[in-house]
Amino acid sequence: MMSAMTPTPSRAATRFADRVKIKQSSVRTRMLDIAAKLTDVIALGRGDPDLDTPAHIVEAGRAALAKGATHYTHPLGMPELRKAICEAIKRDGGAEYFPDEIVVTAGAQESMFVAMLALVSPGDEVIIPSPGYNSYHQAVELAEGKIVTVPTYEKDGFALTADEVAKVLTPNSRILCLINPSNPTGMVIPPSEIDKLCALAIEHDLIVISDEIYAKLTYDNARVQRVAALPGMRERTITIDGFSKAYSMTGWRVGYFAAPKSFTTPMAEIHHGLAICAPAVSQHAALAALTGPQDCVEESRRLYDERRKLMCAALDRMGLSYARPNGAFYVYANVSSTGLSASDFCIRLLEEGKVMMFPGSLFGDHCDDYVRISLLQPLAKVEEAAARMEKVVKALRAARA
Ligand SMILES: Cc1ncc(COP(=O)(O)O)c(C=O)c1O
Repeated sequence: MMSAMTPTPSRAATRFADRVKIKQSSVRTRMLDIAAKLTDVIALGRGDPDLDTPAHIVEAGRAALAKGATHYTHPLGMPELRKAICEAIKRDGGAEYFPDEIVVTAGAQESMFVAMLALVSPGDEVIIPSPGYNSYHQAVELAEGKIVTVPTYEKDGFALTADEVAKVLTPNSRILCLINPSNPTGMVIPPSEIDKLCALAIEHDLIVISDEIYAKLTYDNARVQRVAALPGMRERTITIDGFSKAYSMTGWRVGYFAAPKSFTTPMAEIHHGLAICAPAVSQHAALAALTGPQDCVEESRRLYDERRKLMCAALDRMGLSYARPNGAFYVYANVSSTGLSASDFCIRLLEEGKVMMFPGSLFGDHCDDYVRISLLQPLAKVEEAAARMEKVVKALRAARA
């Protein structure tokens, strides 16, 4: 029988590979520990939509299971899904692809790890916007590449600029990552800047990984320029996309990448080694998402837009600055005027206001001034969170004065 006492781990069980970087002291761990002891916390931390997967998509998954979709699929993904993905990419203003240029993965997350493992050799430099979705850093580290961050600024609306990228280019530059719209800032890179970034990529023979997972969620008439659709870009671009955000399908774990066959063939080998294939049931659900009615996407977009407007108005009242996001479902707000670093602010807000949001340092931000607010709670909860935040900000300012 197993003892109820926690056994002392053996020496072998405490020795990890050098690539494992466990940050026990991370502010995220601290916040989760604090939150575990509290009740009534409003969580605006994670990027997981509160909305349910639309009913017709769930039903397609259910029907597929009833018909025996419990086996491996083709490693690249079900042919009918890959065909639907090609059609959807084209419909959304992307490049023309053939089904063997699509690889369906276990979430877009797997796509980014496959891409780095397939393309990055030790010492290759991978350019990542700062702040930027933190898993890119982890994927580059795993591939033993060198992370090169490029700062983005509130004054530029947090758009990555070609001028800033040009400053970090070296003969070892290999990949430029674009996350558009951005997580964590919610900003869409203006199409004119995408043109300049692409010209730079062509001039310096860079591969571009274009993560367009939030591209269907834009506001204020912002338009996401699909990178691979631009002249000279299809042959050097890996487009990463998925279903988690626009169709509220995070738990299904299905996403994909699209790239020329010269990329997908070796990348598919790594995908096969990691996952064999994406979950069969989720591929059926994804097929229903792409081929079914699209008004569910518009309805989600409308709800996020309402929340975005409410939160921006609340930040205005609090006197906290931000660059008005025009994509995704995040607001990236500057809390430095409270006198605290963003990490300390998040902890104070959690302890005193019972609202959870994450500091930008978790997204590799070059400064500790910003917090990422995920708008993934019903409007009334977002309103309540904003009111609690306002109280904490006022108290901090009063204490400073
Ligand atoms: C920019 C970006 N890419 C990819 C992902 C991962 O998405 P998926 O759930 O499809 O793995 C996320 C999740 O937050 C993200 O923000």
